[in-house]
Amino acid sequence: MKNKVTVVGSGNWGSVAAKLIASNTVRLSSFDDEVRMWVFEEKLPSGEKLTDVINRTNENVKYLPGIKLGKNVVADPDVESAVKGANMLVFVSPHQFMEGICKKLVGKIGKDTEGISLVKGMEVKKEGPCMISTLISKTLGINCSVLMGANIANEIALEKFSEATVGYSKNKEAAEKWVQLFGTPYFIVSAVQDVEGVEMCGTLKNIVAIAAGLLHNIHNLIVVSSFTFYKMTQILVGFVDGMEMGNNTKAAIMRIGLKEMIKFSKMLFPSVKDSTFFESCGVADLITTCLGGRNRKVADAYAKNQGKRSFDQLEAELLNGQKLQGVLTAKEVYEVLSDRGWVEQFPLFSTVHAISIGRLPPSAIVELGDSRSANK
Ligand code: NAD
Ligand code: 13P
Repeated sequence: MKNKVTVVGSGNWGSVAAKLIASNTVRLSSFDDEVRMWVFEEKLPSGEKLTDVINRTNENVKYLPGIKLGKNVVADPDVESAVKGANMLVFVSPHQFMEGICKKLVGKIGKDTEGISLVKGMEVKKEGPCMISTLISKTLGINCSVLMGANIANEIALEKFSEATVGYSKNKEAAEKWVQLFGTPYFIVSAVQDVEGVEMCGTLKNIVAIAAGLLHNIHNLIVVSSFTFYKMTQILVGFVDGMEMGNNTKAAIMRIGLKEMIKFSKMLFPSVKDSTFFESCGVADLITTCLGGRNRKVADAYAKNQGKRSFDQLEAELLNGQKLQGVLTAKEVYEVLSDRGWVEQFPLFSTVHAISIGRLPPSAIVELGDSRSANK
């Protein structure tokens, strides 16, 4: 029997995932050509439904305009009918919606179904933190791998060379099938047996990206105000110096952030492997998100506004319906830190949370009191 794939989600990355998969299902005989994609239905300004437009134009005009998904992608606004008959489910929604989506699917999917989560984020419950792959496997009773990496969706949509990491726990055969389903000459996928490590990387780097975004403008502000004391030629020298200072500082934030990512991951899941942080899901995703992601972009605007406009307002103004994960993740991680008495050990994570709720000004990110404690 052929494998049948459904993509549960259709935002920016969800649409690119559908495109990647659809290019492979037509090529590989072990997969049914058709790829169903569940769409959270919405009306476009034209009055048309997003699903109808995707099926008519073969393009997600709202979340991935200008890119053809493949004629074998079929959008479906009903999540139950979208997953019907599928034995491979790809979950790719902003993490805050995953619990609701899973609840709708209880009892609707076969026991032999394999899942993979592309969702970067976590849930925090009374009982403690719960990774999204665990939420999926526990709620639906299926095995769930993860795929994370340095994957800014718009770049992969344009078929620019990128890499990704599949994380699995026991089922290596399933992991190999996911590698086959996602991999293309421009999207190189490898698998590691460390589902928690891969998922923690994808989740936590979004907090560091907020810190990196805040930083950008703090340094611009410092540089611009010092410029007023100089003549034109000196301004040019000052600009170059300022850029260098910004890069060093951003690298420092990434380094401190990476240390906190490793420490927090291992404190929650002692089995997490050091080597995972050197895969695409680790240091590579941290770098790309700190340089070019949506978390960085919105944090940059927040710092520019000196915190006068909230993250929620800026998300709505700048992202056209796309969602930010870093602010929520910082809050969720902070809940874990305070619950377990770990706050002092994670100055960067805690400071990002305090800034994002307006308790500290953006400049606090370069005043991390004991930023070296994560090294201990
Ligand atoms: P997105 O942020 O572009 O889009 C938001 C999606 O949420 C839309 O499909 C929208 O219809 C849907 N939505 C809105 N309200 C909803 C509701 N109440 N219930 C259910 N769905 C609702 O989405 P994305 O970029 O595909 O992100 C999904 C996941 O992929 C996130 O965890 C993200 O961190 C991760 N990711 C994104 C990228 C990227 O570059 N975009 C890359 C790698 C991983
Ligand atoms: P942003 O959500 O910050 O755009 O990050 C996308 C991403 O996860 C790249 O791998």
